[in-house]
Amino acid sequence: MLLTCKIDNIEIKRETNPAISLKTFLKETLKIINIKGNCDKGYCGNCGVTISGQYALSCLVPVFMIQKKEIFTIQGFSTTEEYKEIEKIFLAKKVFPCPACAPARILLAHSILENAHNIMEEKNISDQISGINCTCISKKDYASVILEIQKEREKRHDKTR
Ligand code: FES
Repeated sequence: MLLTCKIDNIEIKRETNPAISLKTFLKETLKIINIKGNCDKGYCGNCGVTISGQYALSCLVPVFMIQKKEIFTIQGFSTTEEYKEIEKIFLAKKVFPCPACAPARILLAHSILENAHNIMEEKNISDQISGINCTCISKKDYASVILEIQKEREKRHDKTR
């Protein structure tokens, strides 16, 4: 199939086997090297990307499903102001995810907050972060980082009201 989509702000038009996973397409066809995860079965949770703003495990998404969609990997997201803010808060709270899960954690944190309809409580956040199974940081610390990012975004929002 001819796949047309936007990945990390770049328009892509490629012939591809529609059945391969998005992860394979990103890593092997586009040579995006910082797509993590090695189970290819949805277990580790480290291969996350966003698809039209929604967080998804790229190993579980057949590539035909991203036709005409907009994808962000950590490579593209790392050029945004939101990324810098998230990174700063991880550092300030001294929560240091390992290189294997950090990209997924950053994209998931951003996506949870972007898609939240209300102010998130720790409990709602905990329910949504359980898919990343790396144990380098605790779920509690990770949730506390997301709460802090939310606080910063709210402050900014208040200023612009
Ligand atoms: S590679 Fe492990 S969840 Fe995708």
